[in-house]
Amino acid sequence: MIKAVRIAVVGLEFGAEFIPIYQAHPEAEMAAVCQRTKEHLDRVGEAFGVTERYTDYSELLKDDSIDAVHINTPPMAHADHVVDGLEAGKHVACTIPMALSVEDCKRIVEASDRNGRKYMMMETVVYSREFLYVKSLYDSGELGRVQFYRSSHQQDMTGWPSYWEGFPPMWNATHAVSPTLALRRDEAEWVQCAGSGRIEERMISQYNSPFAIESTHIKFRNTDVFAEVTRSLFETARQYRESFDVYASKKSFEWTQVEGEKHIIHTGESPERIDVPDFADRLPKPIRAFTTGGVYDTGEHAHRSFIQGGGHGGSHPHLAHEFISSIVEDREPYPNARQAANITCAGILSHESAVRGGERVYLPEFTFWK
Ligand SMILES: NC(=O)c1ccc[n+]([C@@H]2O[C@H](COP(=O)([O-])OP(=O)(O)OC[C@H]3O[C@@H](n4cnc5c(N)ncnc54)[C@H](O)[C@@H]3O)[C@@H](O)[C@H]2O)c1
Repeated sequence: MIKAVRIAVVGLEFGAEFIPIYQAHPEAEMAAVCQRTKEHLDRVGEAFGVTERYTDYSELLKDDSIDAVHINTPPMAHADHVVDGLEAGKHVACTIPMALSVEDCKRIVEASDRNGRKYMMMETVVYSREFLYVKSLYDSGELGRVQFYRSSHQQDMTGWPSYWEGFPPMWNATHAVSPTLALRRDEAEWVQCAGSGRIEERMISQYNSPFAIESTHIKFRNTDVFAEVTRSLFETARQYRESFDVYASKKSFEWTQVEGEKHIIHTGESPERIDVPDFADRLPKPIRAFTTGGVYDTGEHAHRSFIQGGGHGGSHPHLAHEFISSIVEDREPYPNARQAANITCAGILSHESAVRGGERVYLPEFTFWK
């Protein structure tokens, strides 16, 4: 059994947020950082006192003293970086999405199986305080029978790096798909998606995807429950939103319409605005403070990425803890490779369904894990 997991963080924009958490985690050792530009690599390394630094990921993988890597590189790099990490014998955590094609999700599942190493998709939503709260209501029986889910991830990606322009909305839908599947640890069986509206003509050619909004229905395997998931990226006016609603027989949970307002629990027909509790007590003491946020003192090197905990429902320390403890305890993390593939492929295949005029598309066998 490993006592302290020696972990490297790869990709140091969003990824840098996890460095102080691993440094404080009692069962982790922040071993190395990696990103392509030396100047930024050194800036982050110095700010956090990490001396082992790599501009070349393949060099990092040769270091046998490193047990695990946490990858935060751009989406199109995830599959190769994850497979290379698993083949090098590392446990691998990777930010969302798992990959951008069904074939690449399969490669990761196979590499994880073949090498007997953990893979975890670091999906923030399923460790957010809202999700943990609704899950605690479900697990205690307070919600009753789940009847339906509705979720969304809407944002305006105008002005982001050019590879995002015209990106099919459902290719990166894990924030909206995952809470629906994770509440009861369900599997997606098939999807049926409508592509709606049209984005600017100049953006369409990059991915041959004209849709402003994609709205999919997911049928859950061996159950009678569905989810409806909505995703938009361009040419659709709406405040940023990652939301999920759960309709159940005794109580239902609805996400607020406007960021900053309280969410709602309906008991029968009676609505009540609620305060969502913090679940920091589930974490080792030294990393509990990371659920509530705050700017970490990085001196003159202060950087946007070092702002902790604000945006993603306090999920970052829970994610780090789930990954580290799954290695220490030698158990599967959630979501593991098959579970992440099921979540990610539900999105990828929803786009395929939309392109095929709303045909039903079945998830492949390798994404089933029950
Ligand atoms: N809520 C969430 O889960 C959430 C939030 C933000 C970002 N993300 C994900 O995090 C990832 C990174 O997002 P970002 O906004 O920080 O991107 P970014 O493009 O700003 O940063 C990417 C980082 O990866 C590094 N990198 C790229 N290729 C590399 C390589 N071959 N070897 C080593 N390092 C390499 C870059 O140097 C940089 O540090 C994306 O996949 C995004 O989807 C997830």
